[in-house]
Amino acid sequence: MCGIVGYVGYQNAVDILIDGLKHLEYRGYDSSGVALMADGKINVYKAQGKLQNLIDELKTKSDSDIKSNMGIGHIRWATHGLPNQINAHPQTCNCGGLTLVHNGIIENYASLKTELEKEGCKFKSQTDTEVAAHLIAREYDKTKDLVLAVNNAVKQLKGAWAFCVMHKNEPDNIVATRKNAPLLIGVGENENFLASDIPAIIKYTKKAIYLNDGQIARISKNNIEIFNPDLSIADNKVEFLPFEPLALSKMGYKHFMLKEIHEQPDVVRNILQDKIFDEISDIKLKDVKLTKEEIKNIKRIQIIACGTSLHAGLVGKYVLEEITGIPVDVEASSEYIYRSTIADKNTLVIGISQSGETADTITAIKQVKKKGAHVLIITNRNESMLARLSNSLLHVNAGIEVSVAATKSYIAQLISIYLLAIFMAQTLDIKTDLIKDIKHELLILPSKLEAILSNCSLIREVAKKYSSYKNFIFIARGINYPTALEGALKLKEISYINATGYPAGELKHGPIAMLDETMPVLAILNEGIVYDKVMSNCEEAYARQAKLIGVANHIDDKHKKLFDDYILIPDIKDIVSPALNVTVLQLLAYYIAEYLGKDVDQPRNLAKSVTVE
Ligand code: G6P
Repeated sequence: MCGIVGYVGYQNAVDILIDGLKHLEYRGYDSSGVALMADGKINVYKAQGKLQNLIDELKTKSDSDIKSNMGIGHIRWATHGLPNQINAHPQTCNCGGLTLVHNGIIENYASLKTELEKEGCKFKSQTDTEVAAHLIAREYDKTKDLVLAVNNAVKQLKGAWAFCVMHKNEPDNIVATRKNAPLLIGVGENENFLASDIPAIIKYTKKAIYLNDGQIARISKNNIEIFNPDLSIADNKVEFLPFEPLALSKMGYKHFMLKEIHEQPDVVRNILQDKIFDEISDIKLKDVKLTKEEIKNIKRIQIIACGTSLHAGLVGKYVLEEITGIPVDVEASSEYIYRSTIADKNTLVIGISQSGETADTITAIKQVKKKGAHVLIITNRNESMLARLSNSLLHVNAGIEVSVAATKSYIAQLISIYLLAIFMAQTLDIKTDLIKDIKHELLILPSKLEAILSNCSLIREVAKKYSSYKNFIFIARGINYPTALEGALKLKEISYINATGYPAGELKHGPIAMLDETMPVLAILNEGIVYDKVMSNCEEAYARQAKLIGVANHIDDKHKKLFDDYILIPDIKDIVSPALNVTVLQLLAYYIAEYLGKDVDQPRNLAKSVTVE
């Protein structure tokens, strides 16, 4: 994780760096810093904690201290060393002549540190990053050229990195490089930018150049040079950036999370547009490159993802198996990568990732590509590393998601999975009433989501009533079991309440021991084959005095007494219901966290994009 920015041009660098870091706060927020070049001298300012602390620190400086047209900045999510001021970036070499910011992990930092200490380097921080500062400085002393020095140094590193480096002897250049961590160059007029992600620079330019692994860039006010690892000149193309600056505003909502939940009806409309027209016609997925022959030959599907995307993958198992009859396994990327997995040319591997930059998922996808599997990526970021690794792509088109807790991207992933399943079925000439029903439900889903969103007052009241509980259990069965997991995850992430999702049938195999009047149990009940079964599990919880909350599209009179509270949602076919039910759980988690006064958009210890393994 961590976010990095760089600026060189004619404007006040510190303003642009701070503004850029504000838009990268979702990548980490435990400390931050900037380095500013002026008159061949580099001033470094750092602060522990939220970015505001750095802004306050900078306010205490005189204009001459921070006057500069070139600089680099960093926002940190600590991996090596405590999140304090010394470990914050930028990190500098001993003489202070070289300074850099880093996103990633240097795996062999310990042996390099020992080597550098023997040569007389004095380390001030506990970071792996400081090793790179000393190492590049050592190479610079030999080469007197920052591009050469960076290139020589990174050849000695193992791990993942994106670096922006400045040296006082090259007062007009920032040198940047990356390997397995994101970094793009924003192309301006008389100014150029570097950033981990588009939001940091979109206000200033809509043009960008993406660096490939191992490439090195030297940027100055009027020039961008890119070198391949063998130092030959590269000619990466300039690409047009997809976002509008407006997408980065809260638009009157108290938090990005609430805004993003409210965007969900439009997110569904957006993704369906141009793909699905009615219940009968074929759907179109232009970037899914699987032929009929290839689909026929698929023997198994593996879905690999992390966090909320993993929960979308679990829904995918139910949907794809039901519609295509092909067996589906779902696994956390971090588990997939360190065992002998079985995948070949008859395996379809689906990677799901909002950011398209999650390190574990990237590693897993690289592994299966080598085995010849067809890789289909479902992502919200068309330009991301995972998108670039794909054979087929499903862009979920949810728009930029700022809040660390994923909401609208989850619904968009679910919709993409329904579309993919239908697409595979139609290619195989499978025609069933279920497929027609799904298409029908998808087309009317936005209005059902709007019905929930326009009447949040009950969800809010329930949230307030239960906000003082320390533990929660979420139960469901069948296709809503992943909804229970996702509801529990949302609550944990933003309110820090201990919440666990269970398949309702498993309650009696252990978790039931925890039930008493201090334990709220939230049950998801959707009319369908498991409705009565989940209701029986609710009876079991009721008999143990647990507080029962129902999220259901129907509860008959004789069962109403079981529930302390229930939230009714519009009728929907079971198979599509996860996309509706989860909205209630997102809102419940949101209002509980808001009621408790938590930092909803930036929960402690989390980052939106996890670019380290
Ligand atoms: C982080 C985020 C989660 C997200 C997960 C996977 O943990 O905080 O919200 O679900 O990464 O991210 P991805 O971008 O791969 O979906």
